[in-house]
Amino acid sequence: MRCYAITTLALFLVACTPTSDPEPETPTEPTPAVAPVFVNPAEAEDLDPAAGILSVRLVAEEVELQIGGESVSGFAYSGQVPGPTLRATVGDTLRVELENRLTVGTTIHWHGVDAPYAMDGATWQLDPVGPGETFVYEFILGEAGTFWYHPHFDTERQVDRGLYGMLIVEDPSEPEADAELVLVFDDWGESTDPDEEGDGGATHSHGAAPPDPWLVSGLVGPDAVVPAGSVVRLRLLNVSNAAYADVSWPGLRQIATDQGLLPALEEPSSILLAPGDRAEAELLVGAERVELTSSAYSLNGGATPGDPTLLMSVTPEGEADAPAGLDWPWPGGTPSDDVPWTDLIYVFQGDPLTGQWLINGETYPDVTVRELPLNSDVYVTVRNLSPTEHPFHIHGHSFEVVSVGGVPSPRRTVEDTVNVRIREDLRLRLIADNPGDWMTHCHILPHAHGGMMTVLRVLDAR
Ligand code: C2O
Ligand code: CU
Repeated sequence: MRCYAITTLALFLVACTPTSDPEPETPTEPTPAVAPVFVNPAEAEDLDPAAGILSVRLVAEEVELQIGGESVSGFAYSGQVPGPTLRATVGDTLRVELENRLTVGTTIHWHGVDAPYAMDGATWQLDPVGPGETFVYEFILGEAGTFWYHPHFDTERQVDRGLYGMLIVEDPSEPEADAELVLVFDDWGESTDPDEEGDGGATHSHGAAPPDPWLVSGLVGPDAVVPAGSVVRLRLLNVSNAAYADVSWPGLRQIATDQGLLPALEEPSSILLAPGDRAEAELLVGAERVELTSSAYSLNGGATPGDPTLLMSVTPEGEADAPAGLDWPWPGGTPSDDVPWTDLIYVFQGDPLTGQWLINGETYPDVTVRELPLNSDVYVTVRNLSPTEHPFHIHGHSFEVVSVGGVPSPRRTVEDTVNVRIREDLRLRLIADNPGDWMTHCHILPHAHGGMMTVLRVLDAR
């Protein structure tokens, strides 16, 4: 069953889009639809009362979803899209029992987390969890931050249809905000891919044109009501297969990126979230309603003409001035110097017309496995010779971005997913401290599916 809900969804969006020049009121104007009330995705129940362990059960299953007032067939974790938010504290053990009630294999990959290889959910040398089977993932959460989970088998289709959720690892040394909003951005549009005929469910917009509309945690143009005078922590995640969200709002205060707190507060004009990217911000709520929008951004080269799309709004309740920002324990730190050598190079090439996407001239799974000794400290060049942008992602590790296009990073930048623009060289510093065979790929899922994926082996010390 395919979703033809687009027109209705667009109406929802139009109703919530601010008009730039106020026009004289005409009595014939239709009554605007009411924006849906924003609610965070429900959190997973902790099945183990002991401290230091978060134990949850997730069921991957096919479901009928209600999106924008329409019924759509999709995949879900425990009946919800986004899946249950997993909230733990740094140092906790995460235990997840996954039951696969789909008719196909699946896995869970812990995006951005330095989990041991056997728990990584990648199917290079590991079997997926078969239909009807159960698998237990268990490992220690060593770093605080905003991470996410999704399948890494039949990935393009399963993520697109709704299998994704946020994993929040809290650091007790950080101050507590008055409220937290979990914003999971997914694109929504009628698929143009003939191969997907009859596949049904959530579809994607292929990243060239801005999605219309964006879903924010499953809702179209929702409105979050929060008390005036409160500090709201926003956790942002782009799970779309191919679309970039270039998110902004007045007074944007970014506090974190993929791998936890930034060295210091930043006030950029927007936050670019490539597929797979995360960020965090604090919103100081005063008397003004705030609208979060996404500027038009194409994987074919960045900012494109077009009006910003409304993502959601935050409406203050009551009256109070905007509070001061929180006292975040900024880690500080200085960026590593770039060096005049390269230990590993990844050259991205491809052709949108053939759908063939290569790294170093190879398409997955016919790849040369590159090996690094355990604990090696290496410099990596990622060079994009293709006509589109690509978010580069390595499993099981984070890395420092030391320069972009020859320009040294102005601050210490630690990521696990980083966008590479057309004809750009990125320079990364990687400490290979987690043994295993790690998928290294573009996070535009149709590109990964088309072969833009390779394997980096970090040797065991033994
Ligand atoms: Cu989100 Cu290979 O990962
Ligand atoms: Cu790509």
